[in-house]
Amino acid sequence: MKPRSASARRRSWLLSAAAAGVVAAGSLAVVGPAEAASTLGASAAQTGRYYGAAIAAGRLGDSTYTRILTTEFNSVTAENEMKWDATEPSQGRFTYTNGDRILNQGIAMGAKVRGHALLWHQQQPGWAQSLSGTALRNAAINHVTQVATHYRGKIHTWDVVNEAFADGGSGARRDSNLQRTGNDWIEAAFRAARTADPAAKLCYNDYNTDGINAKSTGIYNMVRDFKARGVPIDCVGLQSHLGTSLDSTYQANIQRFADLGVDVQITELDVQQGGNQANIYGAVTRACLAVARCTGITVWGIRDTDSWRNDNPLLFDGSGNKKAAYTSVLNALNAGGPTTPPTTPPTTPPTSPPTGPCSATVSLNSWNGGYVATVRVNAGSTAVNGWNVTVPLPAGSAITGVWNATGSGTSGTVSFRNVSYNGQIPSSGYTEFGFQGTGSGPTGSLACAA
Ligand code: G3I
Repeated sequence: MKPRSASARRRSWLLSAAAAGVVAAGSLAVVGPAEAASTLGASAAQTGRYYGAAIAAGRLGDSTYTRILTTEFNSVTAENEMKWDATEPSQGRFTYTNGDRILNQGIAMGAKVRGHALLWHQQQPGWAQSLSGTALRNAAINHVTQVATHYRGKIHTWDVVNEAFADGGSGARRDSNLQRTGNDWIEAAFRAARTADPAAKLCYNDYNTDGINAKSTGIYNMVRDFKARGVPIDCVGLQSHLGTSLDSTYQANIQRFADLGVDVQITELDVQQGGNQANIYGAVTRACLAVARCTGITVWGIRDTDSWRNDNPLLFDGSGNKKAAYTSVLNALNAGGPTTPPTTPPTTPPTSPPTGPCSATVSLNSWNGGYVATVRVNAGSTAVNGWNVTVPLPAGSAITGVWNATGSGTSGTVSFRNVSYNGQIPSSGYTEFGFQGTGSGPTGSLACAA
């Protein structure tokens, strides 16, 4: 989980104080406009999420574009610059100039950077299009390894495989040169990406999956199978290129993927302009906020004139003005944020935040010889102020790296305690830390002490 800003931590403390005040005063504070965040990124960050945009290196010299980008968004995705044709124009010759411009723009903004996309049947360089069989498989896996290694440690999420399922009612894989190298090409790509960049979240990304339908069910079955067999997958990207209505099962579809133990990201959102555009944008936002594992939303461009579509599908018009859809998203993000302080502060603030018990669960991404474990620390009905999680490791397992916690020991039973920025967890909230190790990951139950 991203370290929370000082203002978020302050808000969290005030939340605890507010909760105490509520009990004493017997009245509930509601979110007021004075406390609502005023940009998309800041309002999404209130619930630990990001709000991002796909950006193009060629537009970064446009001052209106860059002003909106740096003001509003806290995540960026390379619209085209990290694709196969852009990064490996001839076999074995890698060019990262434009991909690095996207990365550096994101770093300069303090934004999360999404990598898009390592393997896709479109936008392949000509040399790859003319390969097949083992030669193509080897070239594809080498591409994943090289690009993910170049960006190792800097990419928040990779779309490892893009659009590999067929449209229509089959729920089957799409035919492509990659698919013809063997059905295991997707899992081979995920394993290679994990090895090259263990810290990046690895996503499968597709379109026409914006509800429970045959295509999304095909993907659901693949993810369930990957989780059962330990293929390293962390998230599913629902592109959400939308028309004039939203599938009534949109949220239920997000939820069913989350229930498999992967994050969901809305990765390429745009909505046809028409009477319903603002409502659909709002409904998508609310659906994501309603699912804890829906961790962020990306719109596929900034202004209508930056879009790959010609039906004005974005949040800003061609002059950079905010549209009704923008307001709809911002309001939905703020409504979904944490309860804000009461309008009048409690007269006697608590001297120390209340604390209660915690619990912890682990999700594992394993490969032959290693694993990455993500541990979620949950507060109960009372806020937690400091936590310690004990993890029994199987014989032969050794920890090689820890993030968002301080570890004690590397084998046997190891313990992890909070770091400065994630010790306080609001009631019913959670935080996450992770560690990487060799051998097999933990499978037993974890103990949490607060
Ligand atoms: O940069 C060249 C330019 O030099 C040349 O003169 C011009 C002539 O056609 O082409 C320009 O490249 C275009 C590129 O966008 C940049 O504008 C490509 O032709 C064009 O094919 C490419 O389209 C991209 C498309 O993916 C490729 O399939 C869109 O920008 C991009 O938004 C779109 O993004 C995809 C996601 O990756 C996957 N999901 C669907 C989404 C929308 O199609």
